[in-house]
Amino acid sequence: MQVSPSLLCADFTNLGETIEMINRSDADMLHLDVMDGVFVPNISFGFPIIKTVAKICKKPLDAHLMIVEPQKWIPQLRDLGVKIMNVHQEACNHLHRTIYQIREAGMEAGVTINPATPVMLLQDIICDVDMVLIMSVNPGFGGQKFIPHSVDKVRELRALIKRTGSKAKIQVDGGVNASTGRLLAEAGADCVVAGSYVFNAPDPNEAIRSLKVL
Ligand code: DX5
Ligand code: ZN
Repeated sequence: MQVSPSLLCADFTNLGETIEMINRSDADMLHLDVMDGVFVPNISFGFPIIKTVAKICKKPLDAHLMIVEPQKWIPQLRDLGVKIMNVHQEACNHLHRTIYQIREAGMEAGVTINPATPVMLLQDIICDVDMVLIMSVNPGFGGQKFIPHSVDKVRELRALIKRTGSKAKIQVDGGVNASTGRLLAEAGADCVVAGSYVFNAPDPNEAIRSLKVL
């Protein structure tokens, strides 16, 4: 299982040390949660922080945009060296165009769905994306409780990917720990995002490793 720790749940008083810890860890990438207070009921961080992180982070950056009109920010994220740009299906009026703009900019393109958005809505875009991110909490905050139905959605998505021959990876975000992570692994997830489980752990890399082995 690939693991992408969510910076949202880290201690911001010492961002440099946090990133050094991630660099030394077994994490596969670093998950950046961008929120605008419109698409989700919270505001997190934007480009000045991403720029600072990008300068020192040696892991690939995985940006999760919980914002309206995410297509506006494709050039900025590309210029900062972001590897994967995840946009919400619910935030894109022209999802196919946005996915192609992300790919043309040289990034990997991901589409994210909220807990109430059905997997079948992805059937006409699944062959065009590098990743699908299934939200297993309602986006906006770290530390929420895992929604069990997400496991069924991962299974359904795995079947859709198989049926269509898509190369998309399955990522899951929200309430992931060793026990929910195991269920997700069994259902066919390729990658989990973990915020509070990693950053509230006495040894964050131990928590990362407990997910990697799933
Ligand atoms: C929620 C964010 C998540 C969050 C995960 O809107 O997208 O990435 O930081 O935090 P945990 O793992 O604590 O649910
Ligand atoms: Zn996220």
